[in-house]
Amino acid sequence: MTKLWTIQSSASDQIEDAIQEAAMYIRQGKTIAFPTETVYGLGADATNTGAIQRIFNAKGRPSDNPLIVHIAKSTQLENLVNEIPNIYIELMEALWPGPITFIFSIKSHKLSPVVTAGMSTVGIRIPNHPIALRILEAANCPVAAPSANISGRPSPTIARHVLDDLDGKIDGIFDGGSTGIGLESTVIAYVNQKLHILRPGGVTREKLHEINPKVEIVNAYQHEIDVNEKPISPGMKYAHYSPKAKLEIISGKNLYDVKNCIIEKVKEAQTNGIKTGIMTFEESKHHYNADLVLSYGQLSNPESLAHHLYAVLRTFDTQGITYILAESCPEVGVGVAVMNRLRKAAGNLVTVIE
Ligand code: TXA
Ligand code: MG
Repeated sequence: MTKLWTIQSSASDQIEDAIQEAAMYIRQGKTIAFPTETVYGLGADATNTGAIQRIFNAKGRPSDNPLIVHIAKSTQLENLVNEIPNIYIELMEALWPGPITFIFSIKSHKLSPVVTAGMSTVGIRIPNHPIALRILEAANCPVAAPSANISGRPSPTIARHVLDDLDGKIDGIFDGGSTGIGLESTVIAYVNQKLHILRPGGVTREKLHEINPKVEIVNAYQHEIDVNEKPISPGMKYAHYSPKAKLEIISGKNLYDVKNCIIEKVKEAQTNGIKTGIMTFEESKHHYNADLVLSYGQLSNPESLAHHLYAVLRTFDTQGITYILAESCPEVGVGVAVMNRLRKAAGNLVTVIE
């Protein structure tokens, strides 16, 4: 049974009771999903191997893909990590609580080795969400929390998505409404005096540069890897965020040509009896006709695209669409993270119109 805590329209003392109960679940070694400012996480006590194992089991997550550890205050780092590079201190002061995860070398054996997949490093962040922060404070332990989806599926941005994937497989879920940013935190590692972006996310490269214009920033996530290679971030090698439908991205400089290509592909697919969907923008959705046309936000507003991306991918599945054609968005600001996720969701099936 999955316990559901709902706070919409609840009085503040009821919310407090729910927070305390959720925190107790974590201390007891149970798994609970909760909202963060990025996506819903599936949390458990990071010092309890049995509890962490239950996260991997519920998600069907490969055991060599480590989990991010969530804390409430930066003072908790002292017990967990060896050293804090100066550049991290500067970035943490500017960006925590917030959507950025730092990779540290592990100090003690307090954390279950299952959390870090046996690695000597650990990813840690302080989420910027009132419910997440209060649960973390009340639990009073580091909480490992990957996104609360079945491995490989789009990350959940509302409680319903979590239940669709994990109902009955986890001990509880805290429904705090829809998450703000809509895609995961930026993961960074400081290696050889350079800041490596392992996963683009809520904090943009431009923002990192603005805080420290001197440090060299490497887009490590662009490095193509094969499954036999050991990447610096194990999550890089797995298929991710995918709808059940086949997803193809159409991109190109000339938007008119992109649209024509999509229209042609829809016609062809429908002739073959394939239920086809189009994933586009508010500005262009009226151009199209298909079994389902959905906008994932405004082309002029990459934050809105990030916010709706995963929910829209899930909607195509629930509507029985088996082939999705998606218009790519410009890779500026958080648009970089949107395209990173969309490409992974498409298994890199991208048609570029020259
Ligand atoms: O926004 C987020 O980060 C969400 C919310 C719930 O906080 N969490 C999340 O966790 O996205 P997850 O497990 O779905 O993604 C963690 C990513 C994976 O790509 C993993 O490989 C990488 O972080 N990672 C974790 N620990 C690492 C480490 N020690 N070294 C390199 N990469 C690591
Ligand atoms: Mg994930």
